[in-house]
Amino acid sequence: MKTSGSHVSSEKDVPILKADTSNANNEGGTEGQLDSEVERWFATVENTFPPSQLSIIPMLQAAQAALGYLPHEVMQVIARHLVVPPALVEGVASFYAQFRFKKPGRHRITVCTGTACYVRGSGKLIDDIEVSLKIASGETTADGAVSLESVSCFGACALAPVVFLDDKVLRQQTRESMKKVVQEISSGPSEDKHREPHSSPAVRGTDK
Ligand code: FES
Repeated sequence: MKTSGSHVSSEKDVPILKADTSNANNEGGTEGQLDSEVERWFATVENTFPPSQLSIIPMLQAAQAALGYLPHEVMQVIARHLVVPPALVEGVASFYAQFRFKKPGRHRITVCTGTACYVRGSGKLIDDIEVSLKIASGETTADGAVSLESVSCFGACALAPVVFLDDKVLRQQTRESMKKVVQEISSGPSEDKHREPHSSPAVRGTDK
């Protein structure tokens, strides 16, 4: 079972699992483009992280923040830099739910399915979005525009049902309000109106 968390208490706590990277390699670009992207990222951080196992999670987090996900190549680069087996890096990445192995869409819709949100209809929100985008939760549309995800609780239950659009909080969503959001981000030019600075999440209510 995957577990969210921010640190590893000891190496023996972390199972050595093979990351599901089967669809991650080179999504959204050629092999050369991905290699260059990874090389550029590594060049900016190689002096930041000491070659120690303690750097595994911080490096994975930095890579995901820069690249949006963890392609197989970046875990190989991290392993070489930290002088640890690649399987250890992939095992740590697989252990934590915070890490992604597939390239996300340009927009990410994350629906809370925790109890407070679920009883207020978040299950129906996901059903509608899946039908509208023709994808299941955990997938990205074929054009790379939108990824759909779910989480068990954002910790903002008073705003239920809560949806994140990228880094923006959408509170007390309804099937109608989510339909508008999905239409807007799926329709091209207007999608940028939902872009917000990553450092300052906004809160948006329903369009009633
Ligand atoms: S249950 Fe959805 S924010 Fe807590």
